Amino acid sequence: MHDPKNKVLIEVIDVHKSFLGVKGREIKVLNGISFHVKKGEFVCLLGPTGCGKTTLLRIISGLERQDKGIVKVNVENRGGVGFMFQKPSLFPWRTVLKNVEFGLELKGVPKEQRKEIALKYLSLVGMEKFSENYPHELSGGMEKRVTLARSLATDPDVLLMDEPFVYLDAQTRNTLQEEIISIWEKTRKTVIFVTHSVDEAVFLADRVLLMTALPSTIKEEFPVTLKRPRDRTSPEFVEIRKEVLRSLRKEVEKASVI
Ligand SMILES: Nc1ncnc2c1ncn2[C@@H]1O[C@H](COP(=O)(O)OP(=O)(O)O)[C@@H](O)[C@H]1O
Ligand SMILES: [Mg+2]
Repeated sequence: MHDPKNKVLIEVIDVHKSFLGVKGREIKVLNGISFHVKKGEFVCLLGPTGCGKTTLLRIISGLERQDKGIVKVNVENRGGVGFMFQKPSLFPWRTVLKNVEFGLELKGVPKEQRKEIALKYLSLVGMEKFSENYPHELSGGMEKRVTLARSLATDPDVLLMDEPFVYLDAQTRNTLQEEIISIWEKTRKTVIFVTHSVDEAVFLADRVLLMTALPSTIKEEFPVTLKRPRDRTSPEFVEIRKEVLRSLRKEVEKASVI
């Protein structure tokens, strides 16, 4: 029988991408990337800085076009794809509530309904009390929560997250990692989460896809079957983190040679 849980939602097949660098030299960034993501899966793309993670995510979201290869995102058009960027991207002139309502406005959702949906997601991320505040009144962690609520408000089937917690202090980052897992367990979105942190990838993912240095391919895949919430101090966690780190380190060394 066809099990909808095993439905492949995203297929990336032999994707290549080059950019024109300084003096018109071609930089080959993606060199035949292939992988798939199943419905409801939480996949982390891990790789050294500059290996093409953002480029790959932009191609999957349709913001950028690959030179060669195929990307299939098999979502019902209702939900579509949500994106959460590395840098803060809230509108400073809008309140928290109005920021979360933004995507719903674009979709033409009526005013009353918009407010109701926005408040529901603000409450999911623990920010409903701040609905009338402005972004400059929020801490970095709070801003991330609001951005997450905004990404979830339009109910996308797929959430693409590009190092969303990179500029946060370690404690806030750990808290948000726990929360994103609890929200994911409630909403069962399909997530591709980009990071250069081994610890973050092993804490979050069902599967970690490790990218090589430029020109990048998927080097190795690490399934993480540890029960959630994960204990970073458990011997199993430490072991898999070590294994992934060993493999990543080789790529970082290669990248620094270039
Ligand atoms: N629009 C662009 N024009 C030229 N070079 C680019 C462009 N976007 C990315 N690059 C280059 O592609 C490489 C990969 O970048 P990126 O995808 O941002 O990596 P990552 O997100 O893994 O740090 C880098 O060398 C970067 O300078
Ligand atoms: Mg990036």
